[in-house]
Amino acid sequence: MIFSLFFWLFLIGICKVSAAACNGNDALCSRKYSNITQIGAHDSAFVGDLPTDNQDLNVTGQLNAGIRFLTAQTHSFLDDIYLCHTSCWEEDSGVLVDYLTDIRTWMDSNPNEVVTLLLTNGDAIAVSKFADAYDNAGISKYTYTPPNQLALGDWPTLQDLISANTRLITFMDYNSDTATVSYILNNANSEISTTDDVTTSNFPDCSIDRPSGSNGAGLMYIVNHFLDINVLSTGILVPDKDSAPATNAATGTGSIGAQADLCTQQHGASPNVILLDFVDIGDPMTAQNNLNGL
Ligand SMILES: *[C@@H]1O[C@H](CO)[C@@H](O)[C@H](O)[C@H]1NC(C)=O
Ligand SMILES: *[C@@H]1O[C@H](CO)[C@@H](O)[C@H](O)[C@H]1NC(C)=O
Repeated sequence: MIFSLFFWLFLIGICKVSAAACNGNDALCSRKYSNITQIGAHDSAFVGDLPTDNQDLNVTGQLNAGIRFLTAQTHSFLDDIYLCHTSCWEEDSGVLVDYLTDIRTWMDSNPNEVVTLLLTNGDAIAVSKFADAYDNAGISKYTYTPPNQLALGDWPTLQDLISANTRLITFMDYNSDTATVSYILNNANSEISTTDDVTTSNFPDCSIDRPSGSNGAGLMYIVNHFLDINVLSTGILVPDKDSAPATNAATGTGSIGAQADLCTQQHGASPNVILLDFVDIGDPMTAQNNLNGL
């Protein structure tokens, strides 16, 4: 009698352990990567109190807060790849390899999490240099390489990615070349985005902005939900931090939920990614859960 009670407790214990959640939720394990909505940190490397900064939390803090999609702007500087805002003279957030090392360290201790990076490469740095940074950061081991160009319905589930330990998906906007580096995927083949640098606080628009001419059929899509201020109408845009509580709210006028609803009506599916500045402000995770039906 006592033995069988322990036996059942033991079995229950095993089941609990083996049914580890995927990106924080059991219900996401069986969902395809292309059928989840993720809140993303826009310009995730620009952290601090400068007017040009986009985030309060560093990348480790963003990951700890539940963010699994990160964008970063890269530039060629001092013969290396740096994370800089427009130019390294304006804002220099250090070398790519340090940023990747922070992400790798976090992924090492969080084995059930799938992370996505969207790197911009406006300086057309050779993609092999990015691979060097991945190798030096020790993060290449987690990269995901699709077997071929994936259609929307062909993406693996989160559980597939976690079981194979290929939990890092990388997209690049420019100069990717999968013949040279197989895991750095051309963003335009998989994702489209709405207009960025919006200065209208109710986010009334959800039309596709990039790549130009695409209607987005069959692709995942990214919504740019971060608000800028046009400083004294000079055309110089800086993040509107004061408005972030309303912009990053789950519901209400100009909120994440409100723009996502508009986009869902227009595109027939929920957004795959919603990019925010200041992911520590507002209630992004509630918005994400709502959009995933959790
Ligand atoms: C990230 O921020 C946390 C909290 O402020 C801090 O403890 C940690 O050292 C930072 N990590 C890095 C790599 O700067
Ligand atoms: C996931 O699939 C459901 C059911 O078809 C759909 O309602 C939802 O919009 C999809 N989400 C994404 C992000 O594609």
